[in-house]
Amino acid sequence: GWNTQSILDQAIREICERVGDGRVVCGVSGGVDSCCVAALLHRAIGKQLTCIFVDHGLLRKGEAEQVRRDFAEASGIHLIYVDAQDRFLARLKGVTDPEQKRKIVGEEFVRVFEECASEVGGARFLAQGTLYPDVIESGASSKAHVIKTHHNVGGLPKDMQLEVIEPLRMLFKDEVRALALSMGLPESIVWRHPFPGPGLAIRIIGEVTPEKLHILREADAIFVEELQKAGLYRTLSQAFAVLTSIYSVGVMGDQRTYAYPIVLRAVTTEDFMTAQWARLPYEFLEKVSRRIVNEVVGVNRVVYDISTKPPATIEWE
Ligand code: XMP
Repeated sequence: GWNTQSILDQAIREICERVGDGRVVCGVSGGVDSCCVAALLHRAIGKQLTCIFVDHGLLRKGEAEQVRRDFAEASGIHLIYVDAQDRFLARLKGVTDPEQKRKIVGEEFVRVFEECASEVGGARFLAQGTLYPDVIESGASSKAHVIKTHHNVGGLPKDMQLEVIEPLRMLFKDEVRALALSMGLPESIVWRHPFPGPGLAIRIIGEVTPEKLHILREADAIFVEELQKAGLYRTLSQAFAVLTSIYSVGVMGDQRTYAYPIVLRAVTTEDFMTAQWARLPYEFLEKVSRRIVNEVVGVNRVVYDISTKPPATIEWE
């Protein structure tokens, strides 16, 4: 529509003015926000842009392959794949505090981007897909009221060498989706549920370990796959599994088990500032629960989160 076109024109004009003949590095996660930023920059500055996909080891099952395929195919933009799993996981070792995890992931992302920026001949700018609600929730507009520091807003290291550009900073999600569609990004990207920058690090309560990551990935993949098969995925704003790092007692055959419960979270929301838990059908939940406990070694119980935001948040950390 007219409004989308004018937002697009203005965003491109602002990028060109700000960047001049400088080079920009853009981290693409595969979500609609970062893909939209990349597509905007590509239109605005073409070859001055370098897009990288950082695998921080906190991604969902199959995600790296899917993003490289879907985004690159749809946009024609070349994505540089950076395997940074070891360095992120090393830095997260022993860390249990949620805000600390966000800070570490945010910092380490920037270090990776800085290295990449110098490799592509000295990029001056780092582009990010920060939206208006992220700005509000991180307290950037009212410092007194920080709920969670989103890693891409509050968590940037003080000594960062790159200047940040955030072309979506004044936009809401629906405006970003409209923008992305108008630039020809595919529905699989436009309607993908948001996934936080710190990834599975904030969906594992407590310490992040390779074992917990494996269990959470498998459980989450079953949940999302069943949602898609049942035609429910698009009716939800976000749906995912959480691993709480406590053990519960169960019984399998005639054996006592002592293993992880998995929490399923599914919400609907307009703006992510408030959210309803999704009324998923019991039969559906039963099927997912049965598959997870049968197929994922290390899980003996599945629970469904029936909390609204507020007072809960969408994520568990
Ligand atoms: P909450 O849990 O605060 O989440 O209700 C609201 C929305 O923000 C996402 N979220 C994050 N996104 N970095 C991000 O990029 C973060 O640290 C972060 N924390 C939460 C969350 O997935 C939901 O869409």
